Order: sequence, then structure tokens, then C-alpha cells
Amino acid sequence: MGDLAGVRVLLGVTGGIAAYKAALVARLLVHAGATVDPVLTRGAERFIGAATLEGLTGRRVRSDVWEDIPGESHVALGRAADVALIYPATAHTIAKLAGGLADDLLTTTLLAATCPLVVAPAMHTEMWQHAATAANVATLTGRGVHVIGPASGILMGGDVGAGRVVEPEDAIAAVRAALASAAPDRDLQGRTVVVTAGGTREPIDPVRYLGNRSTGKMGFAIADAAARRGASVHLVAANAGLPTPDGVTRHDVTTALELRDAVLGLVDRADVVVKAAAVADFRPATVAASKLKKADGVPVVELTRNPDVLAELGAARSGPGERPLLVGFAAETDDPEQRGWDKLKRKGADLLVVNDVSRSDAGFATDTNHVVILGADGSRVEVALAAKREVADRILDRVVAGLGD
Ligand code: PMT
Repeated sequence: MGDLAGVRVLLGVTGGIAAYKAALVARLLVHAGATVDPVLTRGAERFIGAATLEGLTGRRVRSDVWEDIPGESHVALGRAADVALIYPATAHTIAKLAGGLADDLLTTTLLAATCPLVVAPAMHTEMWQHAATAANVATLTGRGVHVIGPASGILMGGDVGAGRVVEPEDAIAAVRAALASAAPDRDLQGRTVVVTAGGTREPIDPVRYLGNRSTGKMGFAIADAAARRGASVHLVAANAGLPTPDGVTRHDVTTALELRDAVLGLVDRADVVVKAAAVADFRPATVAASKLKKADGVPVVELTRNPDVLAELGAARSGPGERPLLVGFAAETDDPEQRGWDKLKRKGADLLVVNDVSRSDAGFATDTNHVVILGADGSRVEVALAAKREVADRILDRVVAGLGD
């Protein structure tokens, strides 16, 4: 049995002369143990017969979006695929994918698929070098699509240049790499990770509160990443209107005191606590029982300190390195790193993720973040601007290193 046993590959073939090579790709995939579902565009059908691919894969070849309407071929195929490979991919199909167009079975299927996608372009050099194609390819790679090639060599009509589809073996290697990058290491298997996310709200009266701009995106991304890496994850979510990531146990809270109770109730079983929530340092000393009235004048709201949950967890250990491993965040606007080092020490954390929230592309409510991870051992790791989900994995890389074996 080959190393792709149990893997379902959606093989999209589009209309270029290199479509004939898709037969070899199909054969190699089947030889490696994969189940291959070929989907041909109308253009591909003029270059390669469905019977060839059907014979090689032992599977039905599809091309018509109007066939099997009740079975929703496009949704079913898209959901079932572990990986999709378009070999060869024309400039037209690449443009459709970049624009999110869905006007045939292949493009509708790919729009419904969430699996990794490998695209092997094939076209004339001028088409490959055209600014429109370059922009479309950049869009796809920015979305995480694996674009492989094209290679240089003899093209249709005898021209020589960039635009040849990569060899079938290279396409299969790209499929393997895409599958590997989509299946992260289960390096947190057997660990329990508690993550806080969102922003606490401290009531002033029954309708008003003191709050902050945290949406929970960063903390939810960490919870999702930790679950994908095999951890048992408890997510303490403060006022976050986000869906619970798969496999994560959620505990909703509103105030800092509720967040503290939830965290302290979970800490004994935790190997790691990640405190991404923005927790209010102060709360109104008293909460008015009924709505404060404008007519009564401008109210003076006296504040009292909230407990610092991270510092409390840090103080409960005899020092860094003890369980649970503590990861704090610092949302800063002035001299972020220096303040981060101070906070790391003061709160007794093992790692502190410094967030410069004065940037428009980082911090509160953004989909991206740029952070510096400081360690109690003096380490400093900068994570360049990336999607919060990616930043989450880089933070967890540091956590895994800190946990040791
Ligand atoms: O949720 P998003 O919209 O994605 O935004 C993400 C974020 C900007 C909220 C996040 O990346 C972040 O920086 N979170 C920490 C925000 C914060 O409150 O920082 P702080 O410097 O005030 O607190 C430092 C650390 O102590 C934090 O880990 C905090 O959870 C913890 N803390 C703070 C106060 C308190 N009373 N108890 C605490 O445990």
C-alpha cells in the first residue's frame, strides 16, 4: 500500500495540451494508494478522453454541473477531498479561482472545498508573464494555495520559455507537501491548555459597562490551533461573539471576577494557561441597581481594583518553569517591548506576547497580528505580520519548546 492510502484527491484537469499528462498524474496517485476523483472542464475534454481517466482511476469522471443535482456533486466532491490538484491549470481557470467565480463543475467544487489546493499552471510565456496572471497567482498564493511551476522548456507550437506544466512526479510531491502542511504535528497531544479570550465588561448599571475593544479573535485562534495540535482545550471567552472552534470546550464569562473564577476552576488540570483576554484592571466599586438617569446629573463612578489573574497564577508557583506554563499578553502603545519585559517579570509568566496595539494591522479586532514573544529565559522571538491563526501557531511553537518532553 502506498503512502497516499486513504487520501482522496480531487484531480481537476483544464483545457491545455498538457492535459494528456494528467493521465500519468492519475496513474501515479492511484499507484501511491490515493482515491482519485477526476473533474474535467469542457476544454479539458477536447484534449483528453474521460475514458482514459476513468480507466486509470476506476472512478467516474465528472464534468457537468447539471448532472446529479440532488446529489450536489460539487459540494459532495469538495467536502470529500483531502487535497485538490489542478493539473494542468490554464490562465483562465487561475483567473476564475482568484475571482471566486464558479461557472462549471470544477470551479464550483473548488469553491465548496476547504482542503489544501495545489495548482500546476501551464500556458504560453506571454500569458504567464501577463500582469493579470501574476496578480491572480499572487492572490491564490496569498490565500495559501500551493502554486507549483510552471517549468521552462518547449511549449506548444515550438516556442521555448516559462509555461510548461511541471512533471507529474513534481506535482505528486507538491500534493504530499500540501497534505503535510495541512496536518500539523499533534505536539500538544495529552496536554490540557486553558485559553482566555475577549474583553471583560464591568457593569456600571443594568445597561452600561466599562469594556474594551477585544473581539476574542486572537484567543480563539490560539484555542483552535491548540486543539488542532491535539490538546484538550478550555476556552474562557469574555463577551466574544465568535463561533467555538471544533473540539474546544467553551466557558462564557462577562466580568473579570467571573473570568478569574473560571480560570481558577480549571488551573489544577492545566499544563498551559494562555491569557490573551483583555481583562479590566478596574471595576465600578458599586453597581447601580437601576439605570442611572441623565436628569440626576453626571454620575461619579468610583472604581476599585480587579484582581490580576495572571499575576495571581504566577505568584502561586515558586517560579518560572513550574506547571502550568504561563503565557501572558501585553497590549501596549508606548515602548511595548520594555513594558513587556517588565510585565513578564512582575507577573511571573514564562512567556509574554507583546502586542503593539498602536498599529492598524495588529492588536484589537484585526485579522492579522505582529507580536514579539519574550521568554523568562531571556529569549526574544519576533513574529512578522501574519494572520492571527498563523501567529497562534508560532506562539504554540514556543509553548511546546517550553514544555519540553
Ligand atoms: O481579541 P482581539 O480583538 O483579537 O485582540 C487581541 C488582543 C489585543 C486583546 C490580545 O492580543 C492582547 O494583547 N491581549 C492582552 C490584553 C491586555 O489586557 O493586556 P494587559 O497588558 O492589560 O494585561 C497583561 C496580561 O495580564 C494579559 O495576559 C491579561 O490577560 C492579564 N491580566 C490583566 C489584567 C487583569 N486584571 N488580570 C489579568 O490576568
